[in-house]
Amino acid sequence: MSNPSLLILAGDGIGAEVMVEVVKIIDWFGEKRGLKFNVSEDLVGGCAYDAHGTPLTDETMAKAQSVDAVLLGAVGGPKYDDLDFSVKPERGLLRLRKEMDLFANLRPAQCFDALADFSSLKHEIVSGLDLMIVRELTSGVYFGEPRGITDDNEGGRIGVNTQRYTTNEIRRVARAAFELAEKRSNRLCSMEKANVMESGILWREEVQWVHDNEYPNVELTHMYADNGGMQLVRAPKQFDVIVTDNLFGDMLSDVAAMLTGSLGMLPSASLGLPMANGRPKALYEPVHGSAPDIAGQGKANPSACILSFAMALRYSFDQGGEATRLEQAVEQVLADGIRTPDLMQAGDGTPATTSQMGDAVIAALNASL
Ligand code: IPM
Ligand code: MG
Repeated sequence: MSNPSLLILAGDGIGAEVMVEVVKIIDWFGEKRGLKFNVSEDLVGGCAYDAHGTPLTDETMAKAQSVDAVLLGAVGGPKYDDLDFSVKPERGLLRLRKEMDLFANLRPAQCFDALADFSSLKHEIVSGLDLMIVRELTSGVYFGEPRGITDDNEGGRIGVNTQRYTTNEIRRVARAAFELAEKRSNRLCSMEKANVMESGILWREEVQWVHDNEYPNVELTHMYADNGGMQLVRAPKQFDVIVTDNLFGDMLSDVAAMLTGSLGMLPSASLGLPMANGRPKALYEPVHGSAPDIAGQGKANPSACILSFAMALRYSFDQGGEATRLEQAVEQVLADGIRTPDLMQAGDGTPATTSQMGDAVIAALNASL
């Protein structure tokens, strides 16, 4: 059998720097664990626009469809702020998600012990936190039609987006969330705004339907998404798995990220339907963005991108044990106090650079053998 294939799309800003560290890790698994990958690289986002006038070429899209998994860094930057909406760097990422039909976006928020003092919340609120947000990723207001900006013919303009969900779209992401809940602590909380939105009423009813008909043994609760945001900062450990729509999931996952201390720690997996080889269509990316303010300075924390590769090992390549090895190596590095500036406070000493952090993870991996 040939090696599984990985397409690396490092993208813009710090995406390129953190991906260099991930490539070191990928090579390590090839050399030391016999897990070899066929790695290819391509452009997405602003750098693709610079080279080809589009944030994602059809050729790159086709490659992404044909590989076993895509690893993405980050897209966007101030240089591209004035571009037409249709060619903005973010459109490249959204096209990948939509055309690969990656409907289930897994965003774990785990607070490593070494970082519990780093959160803007009190130690006892976040220490030991381990929750998973399952965000619907291919529908809702991100993609609903009609959309656009039109003249109102009275000298003003109208901006329109449409929140739209179908039975099937809700049920399939709910199933993904129930499956995860069964593997964790068997609890799922679904979030929407059924008090003001019809799409929220449908969301609640369909998630309940999947529960009653397919997963009656999972404990299901429903919460309005605004309350969910409040509860996430009040008492986040009440949650295990949360399932929510595209826009609420975007916001709630950023909130959950800060519970863990730094946005630089959070990985994600975006999964679709199984391919012919049984593996799910998959794209792995850190939750943080391109962070143009620190790009190119060796300050970026590569952990989120490294942990995204750990998720690839687990969800695409059935290597849960090796994924845990990598996660523990990252945790060890943090415990040893090797940290990028996002994980330091005044007086904490000299920060590690992006590549020192990556090398430290390799050292911890070597020590794990
Ligand atoms: C995310 C990001 C993206 C989103 C942007 C970059 C399009 O914020 O993955 O959370 O809004 O989904
Ligand atoms: Mg976001």
